[in-house]
Amino acid sequence: RTLRIGLIPGDGIGKEVIPAGRRILEALPASLGLKFEFVNLQAGFETFEKTGAALPDETVQILKSDCDGALFGAVSSPTTPVKGYSSPIVALRKKLDLYANVRPVKTVFNAPKPIDMVIVRENTEDLYVKEEKTYDTPEGKVAEAIKRISQRASSRIATMAGEIALRRQKIRAAGSPSIHKGPLVTITHKSNVLSQTDGLFRATSKEALANPRFLSVAVEEQIVDSMVYKLFRQPEAYDVIVAPNLYGDILSDGAAALVGSLGLVPSANVGEGFAIGEPCHGSAPDIMGQGIANPIATLRSAALMLEFLNEEEAAAKIYAAVDANLSEGKLLSPDLGGKAKTEEVVQDILRRL
Ligand code: NAI
Ligand code: MG
Repeated sequence: RTLRIGLIPGDGIGKEVIPAGRRILEALPASLGLKFEFVNLQAGFETFEKTGAALPDETVQILKSDCDGALFGAVSSPTTPVKGYSSPIVALRKKLDLYANVRPVKTVFNAPKPIDMVIVRENTEDLYVKEEKTYDTPEGKVAEAIKRISQRASSRIATMAGEIALRRQKIRAAGSPSIHKGPLVTITHKSNVLSQTDGLFRATSKEALANPRFLSVAVEEQIVDSMVYKLFRQPEAYDVIVAPNLYGDILSDGAAALVGSLGLVPSANVGEGFAIGEPCHGSAPDIMGQGIANPIATLRSAALMLEFLNEEEAAAKIYAAVDANLSEGKLLSPDLGGKAKTEEVVQDILRRL
């Protein structure tokens, strides 16, 4: 099978880590029968300054018509609003209907407090439909925002969470050491207060996960505030967490703080038959150009993209090589307290692969 992958380095350290993503895909063993073709694509602030568009139409067209997946580095957003500029990754999620944001948060297996969870965030609705208004009253201004929850979006995100739980179990069964015994999905909501909106999310998620194909998946629910408490007290208890957009946004940034460096945390933006792997970090202007960016978030994002393209075996090989580098702990980048350059970390992981 040949996969065509769009490469969008973007700005700053995006340009230093995306090539590492390409190299790890190229280094996968031939026995997997996987080949890659890469297409270099433009987006980001530099692209905006050069062409007037942060996300050129050509980039969207090529991704849509000619690619199976993509790797996206990071973009710099100007601190003060610049006319005509808006975030290309947000636009890309909309244009390609990438309705799920998936963020695994994992420590190495032999860490003092191992964590291995994935947060599955609905990415199209909730308060982020951005339907807000402000009006005057005798007591002063009032502002309102619409929180929209649909059965369709809730059902498809919960179904995806169930599929991810099953797939993680498969990857564990293939030999990855794990802290989890069986697949578990935790539905997060606040339906005790928002009985209609979060109530619909809760009921629809439960129904979707009651599908017989998820028979082996344990399903539980957590009110979002107590979820935050438990996430920090007992992060090892969670496997897959599914949440509406806003809670998912907050939980996934909070969870990323549990593992020490942003340079470790991958994500994927996923739609029907398409996935973009994207490290969670930004363009890191403070370290760009020094060759010391941690490539692991990108390498894991490449693996995560492969998972969603149904190449679990290839993904598992990348995860294992990364975990081996981290557990040995000899070649670590400065964000993890080491002295290794990006290139040395990449070489070490490629050798293990
Ligand atoms: P950042 O993630 O770029 O950096 C935060 C801190 O983490 C910095 O000290 C940086 O050196 C460090 N860091 C991040 N990634 C690292 C890696 N791979 N290896 C080693 N250290 C790493 O976030 P910040 O500084 O808030 O934003 C910088 C720029 O990135 C801004 O223009 C912001 O708008 C943009 N940004 C873009 C995102 C995206 O493209 N999805 C996400 C977050 C920020
Ligand atoms: Mg966020």
